[in-house]
Amino acid sequence: MKVVLVGYMASGKSSVGRLLAKEIGLDFVDLDDYIEEQQRQSIKDIFQEKGEIFFRKLEHQMLEKVLTEKESLLLSTGGGTPCYGINMDTILKHSDHSIYLQLPVATLVERIAKEKEERPLVKNLNNEELPEFVGKHLFERRSFYARAKFTLDCYGKSIVELVA
Ligand code: S3P
Repeated sequence: MKVVLVGYMASGKSSVGRLLAKEIGLDFVDLDDYIEEQQRQSIKDIFQEKGEIFFRKLEHQMLEKVLTEKESLLLSTGGGTPCYGINMDTILKHSDHSIYLQLPVATLVERIAKEKEERPLVKNLNNEELPEFVGKHLFERRSFYARAKFTLDCYGKSIVELVA
């Protein structure tokens, strides 16, 4: 069985994914970690040294690779993964279940503000600029996430509740 989680940065894809995979007995793969392992470089350094377009091409190749090579897995994607090229089609084609972890802008902003450094797209923004950035960005991306077969409203719920 293949399950894919999608959603904006800081929506909990990795933490929910890791626990959910354990609960249902699937191998857990975090696409960002997979890219870092294959490339032997951090996402932050890939963005810095090679740029976002290079990263998006790599992300697409790694998505195809992990979804076709593995028989069964729970994959948590990067926040931008479903929003470029044919990636959402790839996700829908290769997965049995796809889940959008949905959260309001204010919650995402609150979480991102605490962990901006590792996120190349937001690390240069100050906290006052975050709400407008996240609001617009999520508006652009929402239609891609919403193509997932299932939308999970994550507002006010703990990781354990979401997994259940
Ligand atoms: C990105 C989200 C990041 C990572 C990269 C780009 C995005 O993953 O893939 O920095 O475009 O939203 P997380 O969603 O795990 O932060």
